[in-house]
Amino acid sequence: MKKITGWSFVLLLAVMMMLAGCGTKEADTTAKGEEKPEEKKTLRVVTDAAYAPFEYMDKGEIVGFDVDFIKAVAKEAGYEVNIEHVGWDPLFVEIESKRADFGISAITINDDRKKSYDFSVPYFLSTNKILIPEGSAIKSASDLKGKIVAVQAGTTGQEVTEALLGKNSDNIKKFENNNLAIMELTSGGADAVVADNTVVEEYAKNNPDKKLVVIEDTNQFDAEYYGLMFPKGSELKAEFDEAINKVFENGEYARIYKEWFGSEPDIQNLKDQQKE
Ligand code: ARG
Repeated sequence: MKKITGWSFVLLLAVMMMLAGCGTKEADTTAKGEEKPEEKKTLRVVTDAAYAPFEYMDKGEIVGFDVDFIKAVAKEAGYEVNIEHVGWDPLFVEIESKRADFGISAITINDDRKKSYDFSVPYFLSTNKILIPEGSAIKSASDLKGKIVAVQAGTTGQEVTEALLGKNSDNIKKFENNNLAIMELTSGGADAVVADNTVVEEYAKNNPDKKLVVIEDTNQFDAEYYGLMFPKGSELKAEFDEAINKVFENGEYARIYKEWFGSEPDIQNLKDQQKE
């Protein structure tokens, strides 16, 4: 057997001390979990990113009011969010099956959806409006009768149009996303599009060459409110409601709103909805 020389002994001792040191340190942190910096949980959030200015693709990235809003809210709630574009119909499936933690997609809170999902408190006021070519004879919702109307399938736009033209009307052309419905109008395949006011107003404004105008009909189309849509019974709802109220209070909501819409939001109106 080889004799342990003076130097190797010192070296061996040093290594042993290092190992012992690491060992205790490691044991300490695992035993007391709170010493580790708290890791933020990443939530899977689904959307249909074809609904500017709420959510749309820009250079391969999902951007929009909803994106900035949910990032601010998630930060308040102590979560990271991973927003994924899955499309409108799949979004409902992803949430109901709990593969997604929630959805944000300019989703209107309504009784029908409440049967299968839980919603956050309202975060945006919206209403359906009618997008038509300049010079169109359509002046109100009732003028849509007998006309071809393009809508995004499975939206409240489809619902309010069905209420006017009949549930199975052949005059309603349904599309997988709202951009396709607008394309149908601009290419002459439809006389009008019915969709959320902010979306059709922005489109008309940003595409002056298309010569489109927007008309409203407050008698026919009700006020709607957007909410985050959770799987039924999700514990995240309470946490996100609280966080939404925080961004209402701390000025973040107004800052993001102004950035996207250039005006002041009516936060009081949104908060009043929570009383009902
Ligand atoms: N607010 C309407 C609804 O809930 C339309 C929403 C469509 N959203 C979207 N990202 N395509 O039915």
